Amino acid sequence: MSAGRNEVSSLSSGEAGERIAALTHEIAEHDARYHGEDAPTISDADYDDLRAQLRKLEEAFPDLVEPDSPSKKVGSAPAGRFPKIAHRIPMLSLDNAFSDEDVAEFVGRVKRFLKISPDAPLAFTAEPKIDGLSLALRYEDGKLVHAVTRGDGAVGEDVTANARTISDIPDTLSGSSVPEVVEVRGEVYLGKQDFAALNARMEAEGKPTYVNPRNTAAGSLRQLDAAITAERPLRYFAYAWGDMSEVPRDGQLAMVELLAEWDFATNPLATRLETVEALIDHYRKIEEQRAALDYDIDGVVYKVDNLALQRRLGFVSRSPRWAIAHKFPAEIATSVLEAIEIQIGRTGALSPVARLTPITVGGVVVSNATLHNEDYIAGIGSDGQPIREGRDLRVGDTVSIYRAGDVIPKVLDVDLSKRPDGSEPFVFPETCPACDSAAVRDVNEKTGKLDSVRRCTGGLICPVQAIEKLKHFVSRNAFDIDGFGEKQAEAFHEWGLVTNPAEIFTLQQRDGKEGHPALVERDGYGETSVSRLFSAIDARRTIALHRFIYALGIRHIGEGNAKLLARHYGTIEALMQAAQDARGFADAAWDDLTDIDGIGETAARALVQFFEEPHNRSVVDELLASVTVEPVEQAASDSPVAGKTLVFTGSLEQMTRDEAKAMAERLGAKVSGSVSGKTDLVVAGPGAGSKLKKAAELGVETLDEDGWFKLVGRG
Ligand code: IVH
Repeated sequence: MSAGRNEVSSLSSGEAGERIAALTHEIAEHDARYHGEDAPTISDADYDDLRAQLRKLEEAFPDLVEPDSPSKKVGSAPAGRFPKIAHRIPMLSLDNAFSDEDVAEFVGRVKRFLKISPDAPLAFTAEPKIDGLSLALRYEDGKLVHAVTRGDGAVGEDVTANARTISDIPDTLSGSSVPEVVEVRGEVYLGKQDFAALNARMEAEGKPTYVNPRNTAAGSLRQLDAAITAERPLRYFAYAWGDMSEVPRDGQLAMVELLAEWDFATNPLATRLETVEALIDHYRKIEEQRAALDYDIDGVVYKVDNLALQRRLGFVSRSPRWAIAHKFPAEIATSVLEAIEIQIGRTGALSPVARLTPITVGGVVVSNATLHNEDYIAGIGSDGQPIREGRDLRVGDTVSIYRAGDVIPKVLDVDLSKRPDGSEPFVFPETCPACDSAAVRDVNEKTGKLDSVRRCTGGLICPVQAIEKLKHFVSRNAFDIDGFGEKQAEAFHEWGLVTNPAEIFTLQQRDGKEGHPALVERDGYGETSVSRLFSAIDARRTIALHRFIYALGIRHIGEGNAKLLARHYGTIEALMQAAQDARGFADAAWDDLTDIDGIGETAARALVQFFEEPHNRSVVDELLASVTVEPVEQAASDSPVAGKTLVFTGSLEQMTRDEAKAMAERLGAKVSGSVSGKTDLVVAGPGAGSKLKKAAELGVETLDEDGWFKLVGRG
């Protein structure tokens, strides 16, 4: 937030002119980052705020409005730039395979899930993974009505006007069997030659050139002025679909062929194959052609061809079980390790970061890379053995860097022949650089081995940990408080006003008290911005359960796990009770927790340990005094098993145990491993023993497999 924004009327014309010039410059920079590089550095809200400040100043000083003011150029831009549209079916990502073994494991996993013999053939499609950005196109009665970017997978940006300028995207669908509602999904990209021509033009005009085709395609698609998009020769490959009133074909490849009949561009290298060997063979062929293709690709995607099997396989967290992306090996480049810095994370981990002489890897300039942990720097592998004779990493070393897709660049190796004379081994700090507390390596409870990560023991007194926790708490997928971003988290912490997340919600009642000056007195704040901040905080006094769980910053509980926990437990109270009941890492509550599809033992342990810590509990209790956490609406109310607790037992014949569980969870049921008073229904196949007996004793309803299918409407 910038000084003076609320005192517009008291500004002199000179001051206003300076302010207008500064804002114009700042907005132009953000525009360049957002559109040109597709790498915005501020939130949409902060950006809108800058534009609002400029507008106010220009209203008060109309004589100072420059003809090329950003408020003129894109005056019609809606708040947040593009309207948001929710995807009816989430746009998910793909799990990755990095080696042939990973591919074999994927195929094995699919077959096990489906109870298909490991040697039986199973058809997969194999097609290039286009390095662009995904776009969903909705057609109603054959007419394009919406084009929406992936966004966060749940909600994207409406870029329909821009999509209409792409010649590979038909405005009207013609051909046979076009359903009433069609949602085509695919990748927008910029061809390599077109990219080179665009850059040649930029250079000729003395303008800065673009970094790579992907970012340029993304920036071009998100131009507010469709005329600019139209000047960029964007292209589109259709490879999937979302919400459809009807899916007219029963195979992946057949569906893509139908998309081609409807006039979409589809990738010519897509094919259908039946064995791991054939998939890998095709991967190698595509890899050989990679450089000659006119578009960037970063791997090969394999998908189970049969759509009925795809439906049975379903999803895990954010990716389908029926597909995987086999990535090409990362690009490698050489640079010099200029310094090793230690960063402290939210959980106190001391992470070494390499500062490098900037170098281009995979089309992106890299100047920082991760060094993993202190063993890695010292040359000790994860097995405790030396990585290679004499291999450690020292400041001044010439090192190789690699970067795979959007993964953080890593320092791979060192060229010892280029080591400068007199270099010293790096000494990893044993105290936290931020708070001087001891930094220790714990013994991993599960393996009994020394943890590779050194952690600050300062906990609450470590300012960096506290600030990182706060930043996480207010981040976009957590509390997402307008006007309370990373900068504010740092400032409020430094001022001693917010030292833990719960204090955000008492800020207003404490304002101007406890010996602190009132917020309006502070640099950068005025009446309006303070009242806006307080209303933004108030707007978050009611929050979805999964956001609340994620915001707590529990180790190993990211967004995906937070959603799984929210769906399983339904309320924060139930979750806290379950964590408490599972303290013994045994018993029914522990089983219930670790039985959640997708929740591993490490995450489960971290959850239990988090709530065991009295300090964490008290912050959560304080938060709950100011915040209402919305219970999760139990899934599809039309599902007869929504909200019920189920147990599957005996040998199931029409579905595997994993499938049964996945299906029940999709229908909003909880699946447990043991029968108890809380069980609502037991589905028993032949050979069911003690669980069926227990169900009878407890009077729990039981069904056989046919009964189950009839109940859920698939009989
Ligand atoms: S299928 C359920 N096929 O890769 C996932 N994705 O890492 C459906 N992508 O978001 C995606 N080429 O943007 C699929 N041939 C291809 C693809 C492809 C590129 C992108 C897509 C997706 C991302 C996942």
